[in-house]
Amino acid sequence: MSSSQPFHLSSPTAGGGVRKKSRFTYKHLQLLKQSATNCPLRVIALIDYDAFYAQCEMVRLGVGETQPLAVQQWQGLIAINYPARAFGLNRHVTVTEAKTKCPELVVQHVATWREGDDKWAYRADAAQHIQTDKVSLDPYRLESRKSLALVKEILPAPPVQKVEKASIDEVFLDLSAQIHHLLLQRYPELQYAPYDDPTELLPLPPSSALDWHADALVDLDHVEAEDDDPDWDDVAMNVGAEIVRHVRHTIYERLKYTCSAGIARNKMMAKLGAGYKKPNQQTIVRNRAVQHFLSGFKFTKIRNLGGKLGEHVVDTFGTDEVTELLTIPLEQLKAKLGDDTGSWLYGIIRGEDNSEVNSRTQIKSMLSAKSFRPSINNTDQANKWLRIFAADIYARLVEEGVTENKRRPKTVTLHHRQGGQTRSKQLPIPQGRKIDETVLFELAKTLLGQVIVDGRAWPCANLSLSVGGFEDGVSGNRGIDTFLLKGDEARAAMEPPPRSNTATPNSEDPRPEKRRRLNEASSIARFFARAESSGDPADELADDGHDDPSEEGEVENTQDGPHRPRHMDQQDITSYFCQECQQSLKETDRNEHEDWHLARELQAQEAPAVTGPANSRPPGHSVTKPKRGGIGTRGRGPKPEKGQSRLAFG
Ligand code: CTP
Ligand code: CA
Ligand code: CA
Repeated sequence: MSSSQPFHLSSPTAGGGVRKKSRFTYKHLQLLKQSATNCPLRVIALIDYDAFYAQCEMVRLGVGETQPLAVQQWQGLIAINYPARAFGLNRHVTVTEAKTKCPELVVQHVATWREGDDKWAYRADAAQHIQTDKVSLDPYRLESRKSLALVKEILPAPPVQKVEKASIDEVFLDLSAQIHHLLLQRYPELQYAPYDDPTELLPLPPSSALDWHADALVDLDHVEAEDDDPDWDDVAMNVGAEIVRHVRHTIYERLKYTCSAGIARNKMMAKLGAGYKKPNQQTIVRNRAVQHFLSGFKFTKIRNLGGKLGEHVVDTFGTDEVTELLTIPLEQLKAKLGDDTGSWLYGIIRGEDNSEVNSRTQIKSMLSAKSFRPSINNTDQANKWLRIFAADIYARLVEEGVTENKRRPKTVTLHHRQGGQTRSKQLPIPQGRKIDETVLFELAKTLLGQVIVDGRAWPCANLSLSVGGFEDGVSGNRGIDTFLLKGDEARAAMEPPPRSNTATPNSEDPRPEKRRRLNEASSIARFFARAESSGDPADELADDGHDDPSEEGEVENTQDGPHRPRHMDQQDITSYFCQECQQSLKETDRNEHEDWHLARELQAQEAPAVTGPANSRPPGHSVTKPKRGGIGTRGRGPKPEKGQSRLAFG
């Protein structure tokens, strides 16, 4: 490449002619090997499954690939396969409309939990049982895990492998280190820097055209030409595309799922690329194509600009076009939006995103919930649901390795909503004993008992149970038999503490020191360390700012919990209900909480949750706690991505 470079570097060749050099150096190759986020040769992929839940059902039911199929939840459709989309079906049509438009449509209701059964099941009459059933997305979660495990199996072992689960059907891959390895293997001249000087420019790659197979290539920026010689960033993308093609092929061979992928220099561009051509295709956004590609979008389509922040920018500058925003100088963006948001936005619309692909994603809490329409009115009714919540959470804990004591939660929390007010009660889970459904159920009943003692328990509009404060297990330290206690023994051994705290709804026990990797020097990190998002009620598939609303109460990769003092008597404090986290919070905490959502939104763009923002920000870009009310902070985080709007039920 590249005619867009400000200068052309030339050097004499042995034959005395003039040969252009790459604009990349041996140092850049070294950064590629380290998967450094500032490496200009970096290659990131996002894999997103096509019509995911629908494909899960197709595979489970063994229906043919061309058979139109939709997944139903109560009276709505939550996933529609591509053959059915050809009939004009989308998530907004009702089941009846869908069947009229496409008579051969197979409609499968999601699995549900039902009182009396100790396992979720597919039930023919589920749609009529919204009041007695609770949706289970376990089948899809299991498929999601299976395919994540396969992706990890296909790729080289860590640390070369960097895989981040982004939602139930999305995974980011940082392919940099693997590509580095393949480049050196294929182009041995890259192995040694002349004179051992890492600042030395690389030779240009062979000018033969790169084979992109059937991949979709985003058009180059206007100043670029297809017949310009490729540079190493193009070659790296090409190798990345080859790896992704192989991964997708293997997923299809082994699991029969098709997926689409975006391949680009960072997460944000990879995500945009993945949605460019669907189904079953992969799109490459070469560095020389980034600006052109982005210009085709309204900026409100960019991750984290879909919500209030995007709206605020539209209001401020009177446009939703990336191209128009590009003409606005940095200083003006900063003046109108604040330094941090301004600089962040300036980079984002230029395709800059240094956030890391973070493989250390671990579940931090699990939540099981049900909204009642009509409300429920007594303990018996509530206990039926508590039993289901306990079974649901336990099944997920088993998946998480709780039976082998790999990881276990420290606390259990009950949220109880009556009218606009939610009260939460929390208890520690007794350590050193086996956790099972009975233990969880007993704790839940104790917590409900506390709500009832406080008064005003009925009618109840929403109940949820969550576990949190996950810690790595201490297997081996305690006698194995204490983990095997069952039923009465377990209850006897448990001895719940005499009283619990009435916790603020979003409070948690302190987490292990080692998980606090947040950079203390960063004020935004400190800000984050004080708050957490947790629950998202299952039956409402609420969007909690996490990428996938369908995670149904499983909150992964969120920030560490707040380290607030626990309050003993808070049930009478006025609370407001945060739509974003589906939690009730103290009115006095409202501003701080809403600011936290904004900060989280910004950070999601810039930094992985666990490692903190400090190492993933472009140099010189410091993010501080957003100023209260500075920009559209009221209430909500980023909007769900396209097609992931909140589902309303009832
Ligand atoms: N989902 C949902 N409710 C929503 C949005 C998504 O239950 N409001 C579920 C869908 O059923 C879907 C999965 O989450 O299968 C992943 O969502 P997404 O990737 O947005 O859509 P897909 O159905 O996978 O379709 P696409 O091929 O466009 O990715
Ligand atoms: Ca998808
Ligand atoms: Ca998705």
